[in-house]
Amino acid sequence: MSDTPTRAPRAVDPAARRSLHADYTVPPVIAGAWQLSEGHSARTLDRDALFAAWDLLAAHGCDTLDCADIYTGVEALIGEYRAARPGRHLQVHTKCVPDRDALAHVDRAMLTGIVDRSLTRLRTDALDLVQFHWWRYDVPGMLDALGVLDDLRRAGKIRHLALTNTDTAHTQRVLDAGIPLVATQVQYSVLDRRPAAQLAPLAAARGLSLLCYGSVAGGFLDEAWRGTAAPDGALENRSLVKYRLIVEDCGGWSALQRLLEVLADIAARHRVGMANVAQRWVLDQAGVGAVIVGFRGVASARRTLATLGLTLSADDHAQLREVLQVLPMPAGDVYAAERDPASPHAGVIRYNLNREAGG
Ligand SMILES: NC(=O)c1ccc[n+]([C@@H]2O[C@H](COP(=O)([O-])OP(=O)(O)OC[C@H]3O[C@@H](n4cnc5c(N)ncnc54)[C@H](OP(=O)(O)O)[C@@H]3O)[C@@H](O)[C@H]2O)c1
Repeated sequence: MSDTPTRAPRAVDPAARRSLHADYTVPPVIAGAWQLSEGHSARTLDRDALFAAWDLLAAHGCDTLDCADIYTGVEALIGEYRAARPGRHLQVHTKCVPDRDALAHVDRAMLTGIVDRSLTRLRTDALDLVQFHWWRYDVPGMLDALGVLDDLRRAGKIRHLALTNTDTAHTQRVLDAGIPLVATQVQYSVLDRRPAAQLAPLAAARGLSLLCYGSVAGGFLDEAWRGTAAPDGALENRSLVKYRLIVEDCGGWSALQRLLEVLADIAARHRVGMANVAQRWVLDQAGVGAVIVGFRGVASARRTLATLGLTLSADDHAQLREVLQVLPMPAGDVYAAERDPASPHAGVIRYNLNREAGG
């Protein structure tokens, strides 16, 4: 892992918060919590270190967490954090991800049950943002399910609705059906630039913000991997497994190394870490509302705060453009490869976690 950037941590300038709706804003950096779910890593979770990281972020204006109904144990953990910090302003984005094998049976009772379970675990009376995912476009019911979630929004259980991992055509269909989406969560990074082609223009036209995971590719876009040989053993966690496949789609390990050299060059000019440059690049893309970054402790949270005060120059962007324009990319629209059962991306996804996470 890299050294702490030499710049002092910055707080979010209130003007830098992005508006998802007239009554709802988010900081540029959202703390993601997949990393804390059972099965993500063999590493034992250090609860105190995690809560200290969230406290540090909150003290710098990053008051928003991202989780999911299917991140086993995580909603309850955030509920405990909320209870331990009474009076603290905390925004929590969760998801609604009905099981792939149960899509044909999704109904009002099932969806209401998922939302009520999130409310109980998160110890709140309204979910700030629910990001919906439908595993198979060929199974009907996606729009009906979103209609039920919109009813729950009108009833006050949900404040705002979003999608996650949904391609441009289906996002458009949802918007055209009158579902009031404020955002969509997608993978977006210097490696995976799929949202730029179609989804970002639609988002701009229809007032949606992109909330972006993978900005540091699970940690691959950092000094720790610069100049190293490609890892040949088991990777430490599921994010690295996922983004190792993205690296392969982007020209492989040697192409990653060329990109890391450019990130390092820009980072050195600004006296920040390479991950900060990677995060800021995403934030500078059209339609992007925030990066969602996974943290398990204070060190990477502190390093990420330097992103808040970082401005990339036109020359920095030109330097990155030069390397990116010759870097291959995952094929197709947002999450297309992941939906293809024959692709290696689909092979590393764990399905049907909703029932499992329901205990
Ligand atoms: N909708 C979806 O399908 C989906 C998929 C993936 C992720 N997400 C969301 O996005 C969040 C992020 O997950 P991700 O898988 O995309 O991982 P990521 O944010 O790309 O990478 C997380 C890893 O990067 C390290 N890191 C963070 N900031 C760093 C910095 N400034 N310098 C160096 N290393 C840094 C962290 O280290 P430490 O572990 O040491 O703290 C962590 O291991 C998840 O928690 C989840 O909320 C959603």
